[in-house]
Amino acid sequence: MKKDVTVTVNGHKYEARVEPRLLLSDFLRDTLGLTGTHVGCEHGVCGACTVRVDGEIVRSCLTLAVQTQGSCVETIEGLSDSGEITDLQNAFRERNALQCGFCTPGMLIAAQDLLKHEKEPDRAQIREHLSGNYCRCTGYQAIIDAVEETAGMRRERKP
Ligand code: FES
Ligand code: FES
Repeated sequence: MKKDVTVTVNGHKYEARVEPRLLLSDFLRDTLGLTGTHVGCEHGVCGACTVRVDGEIVRSCLTLAVQTQGSCVETIEGLSDSGEITDLQNAFRERNALQCGFCTPGMLIAAQDLLKHEKEPDRAQIREHLSGNYCRCTGYQAIIDAVEETAGMRRERKP
């Protein structure tokens, strides 16, 4: 039997009637058309589906849409449109930290989560925080470089 869910996604309130088994990743992509959230492994390993729910990063492939009842969900579209991660996106582009781009939305959201909580992360911390996000293209070094550079730029802006 379908369930009603009311959820705020990227600042917009949605009311929908969904199957209880519907994954948040499928709800975002197929119901709301927010295809920036990618789906890779679909069992919690690759991190491509990472989104924020009430400020915490979660795997949307391991979350049911009905579990977000009353919550605020933020996807890569929301973080991009608000300008919250513009500097991080620029650093990824300048450092060649993306190639095919499949991992990039999840990688950016995970990196932003680290930068929100840790102003001066070292490379080991960055690597550890992003260890749940797989990238098949870059070899990770350029991604670590981009996150490290962004942390430095933010410290300069806000001493
Ligand atoms: S698609 Fe969710 S972790 Fe891989
Ligand atoms: S850029 Fe291709 S998987 Fe990371």
